Amino acid sequence: MPPKPTRPMPSEIELHPLTITINGEARSLRVAPWTSLLDLLRHDLQMTGTKKGCDHGQCGACTVIIDGERINACLKLAVTLDGASLTTVEGLATDGRLHPLQSAFIEHDAFQCGYCTPGQLCSGVALLDEGRAGSREEIREMMSGNICRCGAYPNIVDAIEDVMRQRSALKEAAE
Ligand code: FES
Ligand code: FES
Repeated sequence: MPPKPTRPMPSEIELHPLTITINGEARSLRVAPWTSLLDLLRHDLQMTGTKKGCDHGQCGACTVIIDGERINACLKLAVTLDGASLTTVEGLATDGRLHPLQSAFIEHDAFQCGYCTPGQLCSGVALLDEGRAGSREEIREMMSGNICRCGAYPNIVDAIEDVMRQRSALKEAAE
């Protein structure tokens, strides 16, 4: 009887080269074709700031910023990101100073357990940079992909609105 075909072991699988900039640092990696960006970050690179909630694109806990766009890392295959520039929650602070939205989250008490917070922060930072939201309602709508089981929504919107106001005040002062 001919031997049964066997599934290839992980070590026999061809790994794909991936060059990606993560929080300003260029990285040359090798990844299995099925590795999600979320697993690459959390398991391969031990960057556990980005959280895994549903792993199905429904909770927003894994939100990161790729080339300025908010993306659910659990839905993105790492191999598709060759040449991309990625920001995770670990990259929001600069030179030891928190991003203004991180400070606003603290000031407005915008979290309880904190599990959704890295995703909320990345989503909020990209939303502010998009400059599309002009009101509380629009902030709520555009943040609706980020679920908070603790129900900190009003405080999260307060924090984002606060930074939005700070930015427009700075812009007005500069004009
Ligand atoms: S873990 Fe990615 S959307 Fe829930
Ligand atoms: S702070 Fe607990 S899930 Fe949002």
